[in-house]
Amino acid sequence: MDAQDKQQSYEMVLGHIRALIAGETDSIAVMATVACELQHDFATFDWTGFYRVVAPGLLKVGPYQGAHGCLEIPFERGVCGAAARSRQTQVVPDVAQFPGHIACSATTRSEIVVPVIDPAGKLVAVLDIDSNRASAFDEIDRVNLETVCEMVGRSAS
Ligand code: SME
Repeated sequence: MDAQDKQQSYEMVLGHIRALIAGETDSIAVMATVACELQHDFATFDWTGFYRVVAPGLLKVGPYQGAHGCLEIPFERGVCGAAARSRQTQVVPDVAQFPGHIACSATTRSEIVVPVIDPAGKLVAVLDIDSNRASAFDEIDRVNLETVCEMVGRSAS
């Protein structure tokens, strides 16, 4: 998929997500809908889901699509932990080169993890997307998935 096609796909998916979650205040319902839409609209997304902040320094799996994901991730571990600690999106072109990467699947080659922050500035979750393709994620993914996570964050408030 070239850059123009990818951006057009995101514009379509973001429109669908906006319509589907409009007025929804239940964050689990919003996360389940977002995971479903993203997973089904991007062939290179092989695991799409959320890890929620359930206690200080601890993430627990939320709604997701794909093979089973690990249930808990402390902020000290993995790509998800790095996104939670830094509150910055992590774009990982090769998970084998990421120190402490947690491999929920042996086929994962690249990953992006985006923090979900509510309007009050509180970290409420991270959005984790794995791909079996190397370097599957770029700036277009980062910008658009951060927009998705802003919508999710607003629903969590
Ligand atoms: N790879 C993630 C763990 C979650 S599984 O990929 C669903 C990490 O390193 O934090």
